[in-house]
Amino acid sequence: MSSTVITNIATLVTNDPSLGDGSPLGLIQDAALVVDGDRIAWTGESSKAPATDNRVDAGGRAVLPGFVDSHSHLVFAGDRTQEFNARMSGRSYSAGGIRTTVAATRAASDEELEANLTRYLAEALRQGTTTFETKSGYGLTTEDESRALRIAAAHTDEVTYLGAHIVSPDYADDPAGYVALVTGEMLDACAPYARWIDVFCEKGAFDGDQARAILSAGKARGLHPRIHANQLSYGPGVQLAVELDAASADHCTHLTDADVDALAGSATVATLLPGAEFSTRAEWPDARRLLDAGATVALSTDCNPGSSFTSSVPFCIALAVRDMGMTPDEAVWAATAGGARALRRDDVGRLSPGARADLITLDAPSHVHLAYRPGVPLVTGVWRRGVREV
Ligand code: NIG
Ligand code: FE
Repeated sequence: MSSTVITNIATLVTNDPSLGDGSPLGLIQDAALVVDGDRIAWTGESSKAPATDNRVDAGGRAVLPGFVDSHSHLVFAGDRTQEFNARMSGRSYSAGGIRTTVAATRAASDEELEANLTRYLAEALRQGTTTFETKSGYGLTTEDESRALRIAAAHTDEVTYLGAHIVSPDYADDPAGYVALVTGEMLDACAPYARWIDVFCEKGAFDGDQARAILSAGKARGLHPRIHANQLSYGPGVQLAVELDAASADHCTHLTDADVDALAGSATVATLLPGAEFSTRAEWPDARRLLDAGATVALSTDCNPGSSFTSSVPFCIALAVRDMGMTPDEAVWAATAGGARALRRDDVGRLSPGARADLITLDAPSHVHLAYRPGVPLVTGVWRRGVREV
């Protein structure tokens, strides 16, 4: 296996506090790192870099772990431009729009769905995402949910069963029957493709009792829970996430003090999705309040055609810094190490020995520029498992 040293790194974000400046980002200035096969073998000051087979000059750029986007909905067809336009003219977001995408997704062929997924993944990769989670949730029949998961599983290990996105229109008069389907035959068909189970716990989707039943059924089948919680209103989602030891409670826009305390005292990550508040003109989640309480925060895109049609983690970092009270350091940590925590992974989201060699270079001397230069395509290089892909 050949090894490569990357030298002349102005700022290296390791996310290992035992390295560099001792901050959570473990920053090393004037740094180098060694990639051996698909792993990081060494990180440190440039002057101490060991000899290797190959050498790459980073040109005084910043190097970071690739982004870990722990929340997206990428198996879908069609778009919702009209709904977005209506919102920007004053209409408010409701979960009902999901039905439009369900109809388009059911009508699409496997090939169309896969082509869409591949296109959005390529878009995300160019913007620095090297690990991503994605969900079903736009099929809502046993056949359509399981094919979405089968298509997703060909592209990532982080696949989430979201049969409980909304009550299927086919069960409009029988929500209990739909919960029985999601926890029965549909779960049986979907579990082989998924690592996670999710539910949209919200008025107009599933209430706390339904959500508990759905996540518990998934747990009994060996799936790990994560939840769409407290997005559009206050509700039981966050407390349920903590009760069930969900890896993540996602959105967290409307939180009581008890919700914040519960997250802070748990291993459940609060995953914030500012693309959704941007695209629905909703109030921002209060990242500062969560961080000050001691909760672990992740930042992800929520990329989907309804509430957040962005695949750009850098855009989410900029929003989180501008509007959610995060410092640039906190936002970069949340989009890398935070995403890894939300997926209960320790092999990604950091650049220290033993980690997967998933890294990005920025056309900037430091990670701070991701927020300081919003909207600028700063990602110039992307390595995944030690191989340069961008
Ligand atoms: O995370 N909140 C539920 N699901 C998505 C939106 C899906 C849609 O509008 O199509 C979300 O925002
Ligand atoms: Fe979502």
